[in-house]
Amino acid sequence: MSIEIDIVSGNVGWPYAKPLLEAVWPSAEVAKSSWGHIEWAKADLRVLVETPDDVVCHVGLVFRTVLWKGRKHAIAGIGGVATHPDHRRSGYASIGLDAAVRTIRDREAIDFALLFCEPHNFAFYEARGWHRFDGVIMAEQAGARIRFEVMTPYVFDVKNAPREGAIDLCGLPW
Ligand SMILES: CC(C)(COP(=O)(O)OP(=O)(O)OC[C@H]1O[C@@H](n2cnc3c(N)ncnc32)[C@H](O)[C@@H]1OP(=O)(O)O)[C@@H](O)C(=O)NCCC(=O)NCCS
Repeated sequence: MSIEIDIVSGNVGWPYAKPLLEAVWPSAEVAKSSWGHIEWAKADLRVLVETPDDVVCHVGLVFRTVLWKGRKHAIAGIGGVATHPDHRRSGYASIGLDAAVRTIRDREAIDFALLFCEPHNFAFYEARGWHRFDGVIMAEQAGARIRFEVMTPYVFDVKNAPREGAIDLCGLPW
């Protein structure tokens, strides 16, 4: 099947991403989850993997200056990685993630990439070159700075390879 990969701004991509994200994370299930109360950052860019019929996979990208060990770093956040339940295990998320990582590498200023995931996805990301970050994540929630612990951070190395220390997201998580 022919597929197309579009990388568009977060706002332009939202109408295409929204139905897919609602199918993957129905609001009733989100409300019951351990992270249902979290306020998330909006994506700056969206990778959309499309078949002739539909958007089958989405990867969101957030660009942010964070503090790691107290020093500023320009990073790319990956979030909202989702393949439609009817189209899983066809390689779409791998394709979407590859496109996101290529976009990150093309931006010369990016120091590393960071995502947050649940235990059932650890193996998926580890098989794709992501490394667990064992340090502390601080983030903004409801206007306050909190320790962000509801999901596990994973890093994709670019110029830096953080594994420990504290990362302050200096804003909402993704
Ligand atoms: C996780 C998710 C995005 C994977 O999407 P996908 O399009 O099915 O992934 P791919 O088809 O690219 O996966 C390719 C390979 O990874 C394997 N794989 C997929 N999910 C896996 C998982 N959770 N753990 C380990 N391996 C996994 C596939 O079997 C396949 O292996 P193969 O190459 O040996 O055949 C999808 O299951 C999903 O949308 N889940 C719900 C939302 C979610 O949890 N998103 C992640 C948020 S961090």
